[in-house]
Amino acid sequence: MVFLRRRSLLLKTLLAVPVIWFFVAVLYSTSDKARGRGPLEPAAAPPPEAAAIRQEQHHAPGAPEPPEVELQPPVVVENQPDAPGFPEPEQENEISKKEEEDAGAMGVLPLPNGNNKYGEMGKPVVLPSNMSTGMKKLVDEGWQKNAFNQYVSDLISVRRSLPDPRDEWCKKEGRYQSSLPSTSVIICFHNEAWSVLLRTVHSVLDRSPAHMIHEVLLVDDFSDMDHLKTRLENYFTKYPKVKIIRAKKREGLIRARLLGAARATGKVLTYLDSHCECTTGWLEPLLDRIARNSTTVVCPVIDVIDDTTLEYHYRDSGGVNVGGFDWNLQFNWHSVPERERKRHENSAEPVWSPTMAGGLFSIDREFFERLGTYDNGFDIWGGENLELSFKTWMCGGTLEIVPCSHVGHIFRKRSPYKWRSGVNVLKKNSIRLAEVWLDDYSKYYYQRIGNDLVRIF
Ligand SMILES: *[C@@H]1O[C@H](CO)[C@@H](O)[C@H](O)[C@H]1NC(C)=O
Ligand SMILES: *[C@@H]1O[C@H](CO)[C@@H](O)[C@H](O)[C@H]1NC(C)=O
Repeated sequence: MVFLRRRSLLLKTLLAVPVIWFFVAVLYSTSDKARGRGPLEPAAAPPPEAAAIRQEQHHAPGAPEPPEVELQPPVVVENQPDAPGFPEPEQENEISKKEEEDAGAMGVLPLPNGNNKYGEMGKPVVLPSNMSTGMKKLVDEGWQKNAFNQYVSDLISVRRSLPDPRDEWCKKEGRYQSSLPSTSVIICFHNEAWSVLLRTVHSVLDRSPAHMIHEVLLVDDFSDMDHLKTRLENYFTKYPKVKIIRAKKREGLIRARLLGAARATGKVLTYLDSHCECTTGWLEPLLDRIARNSTTVVCPVIDVIDDTTLEYHYRDSGGVNVGGFDWNLQFNWHSVPERERKRHENSAEPVWSPTMAGGLFSIDREFFERLGTYDNGFDIWGGENLELSFKTWMCGGTLEIVPCSHVGHIFRKRSPYKWRSGVNVLKKNSIRLAEVWLDDYSKYYYQRIGNDLVRIF
C-alpha cells in the first residue's frame, strides 16, 4: 500500500511539472499581449503586413505618403478637454443625432458642456488618459473600423472651423478670373465614418462659392454600414446639390470614380477622398487654372489631418512638394526643383508636377474624356494616379500643384477594408502602366520586380 501511494505521489508530481509550466507559459504570453496593445494605440503597432497595406492605402484613395517632416503633432494643450466634461458613451449617440438635426439649420453645434467646442480652428482633441472602460471600448472600436480615431471625430462638429492656410499672395484682388466654370465634386466612399464623410461634404459646400459647385456626387462603393443607407439619404435631402450614387457591387476606387464621372454634368470634375476638409478659398485657384487652359490638371496642397487628434496641420507655400515616382512605380514626393523655382516670382504660384498623388484633383471634363479617362483595364485601385499623370503630360496637358489651394486629408496607417486576396492588383495595374506608357523604360520596372510577370496574367 505504502509503496503504491508513494508511486502515485511520484506520478502526480511528474504530471504537475508540465502542467504548471504550461500555465506559466500561457500567463506570460497573455500579459505580453496586454502590454503590447494599449487601448489608444491600435494603429501604433501595425501587423507585419502593414508595409504592404500602407502602400495600398497611400495609393488607393490617392493619399500620398505625406512629406516626412513635421508629421508629429506638436503637443498642444489648448482645447484639451478636462476629463469630467467629456461626454460619456451614452451621450455620444445623442450628440450625433442632434448634430444631424442642427447641422443643416445653423453653424457649429455647441457641445453639451457649453463653450468647449472640440477641434474648432483645426485644434487637436486629446482624450484623457483615465477614460472609463466604456469610453475606451468605443474609442477602440472606432479605431478598428476606420483606422483613425472615429471617437474624436464624432466629438467634433461636422462644420468645424479651420484656419486659413493661404499665403497673402493668393488673396490679392483680381488674382483669379472673375468668371470661373462650375465643377462637379465627386467623392467616392466605402464604409466611411458618418462624421468624417459629412465633414468632407460640408467643407465643400461651406467653403466654395455656391455658383461654382454644380453638384456634389457621393459615390457609394457598396458600403454595408447602416448609417450610409437611408440615414445618409435623409440627411442630404436638405441639400439638393448633393446626389448619392450607389454601386451595385464592390467596384474599387477606379471604377467608382468612373461611375461618378459618367453621371457628372459640370464643366470640371473635382475628385476628393471621403475623409477630407477643404479650407477657405480652396476651389477658386484650382478652377482658375482650368479656366485659363482646359488642358491643365490641378491638385491642391494636401494638408495632414492627424489620425488621432484630428488636428489640422499646414505649412505655407515654401513647403510645397511636387509628385514623382520611383522605378517600383510608386508615387513619392520631391521638393520643388531649382529650375522650376526659377520659373516663378512667388512660391505660391502653381508649380509643374510630374505626377499627382491621385485622390484630390480637378480636371476639365472634356479633357478627361479626351485622355480616355482611366484605363478600363485597370482594376480596383493602384497605379491610376501615375497613368493619369503620364497621359496628361504625354497628350498635351500640364499637371500642376496649386499652393493657394489647401485640402486636409486624414492619413491612415493601414487600410480598414478587406479585399479579395490572391491577385496582386497593384502589380497587375503597374505592369499595364509600364507596357502602355513607358516604352523602353519599362525594363527598369521589370528589373525591380525581378521580371516576375508570369503569375500576374
Ligand atoms: C480623470 O482625472 C481627472 C483629473 O486628473 C479627474 O478630475 C477625473 O475625475 C478623472 N476621471 C475618472 C473617470 O477617473
Ligand atoms: C494650353 O496648354 C498647353 C500645354 O501647355 C499648350 O500647348 C496650349 O497651347 C495651351 N492652350 C492655350 C489656349 O493657351
